[in-house]
Amino acid sequence: AKEPVRVLVTGAAGQIGYALVPMIARGVMLGTDQPVILHMLDIPPAAEALNGVKMELVDAAFPLLKGVVATTDAVEACTGVNIAVMVGGFPRKEGMERKDVMSKNVAIYKSQASALEKHAAANCKVLVVANPANTNALILKEFAPSIPEKNITCLTRLDHNRALGQVSERLNVPVSNVKNVIIWGNHSSTQYPDVNHATLTTSAGEKPVRQIVADDEWLHGEFITTVQQRGAAIIKARKLSSALSAASSACDHIRDWVLGTPEGTWVSMGVYSDGSYNVPAGLIYSFPVTCCNGDWTIVQGLPIDDLSRKKLDLTAEELTEEKALAYSCLT
Ligand code: NAI
Repeated sequence: AKEPVRVLVTGAAGQIGYALVPMIARGVMLGTDQPVILHMLDIPPAAEALNGVKMELVDAAFPLLKGVVATTDAVEACTGVNIAVMVGGFPRKEGMERKDVMSKNVAIYKSQASALEKHAAANCKVLVVANPANTNALILKEFAPSIPEKNITCLTRLDHNRALGQVSERLNVPVSNVKNVIIWGNHSSTQYPDVNHATLTTSAGEKPVRQIVADDEWLHGEFITTVQQRGAAIIKARKLSSALSAASSACDHIRDWVLGTPEGTWVSMGVYSDGSYNVPAGLIYSFPVTCCNGDWTIVQGLPIDDLSRKKLDLTAEELTEEKALAYSCLT
């Protein structure tokens, strides 16, 4: 039998946490043959709710679940973890300045970076979900210098999956027949959902989505804005932000990272830029990646047209500004 993997979920008493922990305990994230021990962290005002989640995990009697740690102590939460999914953060409240929200999150991610660096298992893989996801991940990277930078990522898989979903709805085909969309850049409304390289599996083989949709107006307009603004549309409809889709996408992100992407398929992940596609190095930026043996690699050599170039640069500029704002909060 396999040794259990320890998976940390921060903000575990929140909405996404509530959807995510049962998925992990059922093997959706790491496979149905992989036992897990869940570590759940939240802050003291949520301690009672967190304990309630722990009670429900016990009550669900998940066969793969070999233990649950529920705590408000970051050191206890981080000790020995192999995977860390960082969902906890400070939400933007009405009337708050961007800088104030950034400052709260910078403080959280700086201190949790230290706890992870000192106490997590060697080679711990980190996924930051909490917004501003790219910049929180960057701060975590900066303050956990002994964790390899390739181990620190942020979630743009939800946006990627939303893009697949929009193409599938438009063409009235199963979503599993669509692949290789790309989310470039920031997990924000400046992200660039790109279908230029996406393909559809048909009875006559794989066809470019662009050729089949053949409606450039939709592809360059409504498709992009729908994906960019989907988060806001969900909040409007549900009066709560996306939780089941965020949790499911977080499982997809970790599963593909750990177990590998299928041959010929890439996915989007926010990773530390090495300057690929002339994206400034030193930003956490969403790229198309393939994964093998627990490592991701940026897909190289995709042609980028002029329209796309502008969009790649625009979202990079926003991330550069966010980075500067985050640094200004450190002093
Ligand atoms: P929520 O407000 O329901 O839950 C957040 C939880 O984090 C709360 O239980 C809160 O007590 C906890 N928390 C706050 N500070 C903490 C700290 N220092 N340490 C540990 N826990 C802490 O929010 P929800 O809906 O679960 O969303 C969580 C985050 O995920 C938000 O920042 C949201 O913007 C982000 N998000 C990101 C997505 C992505 O695709 N990257 C998609 C959807 C949401």
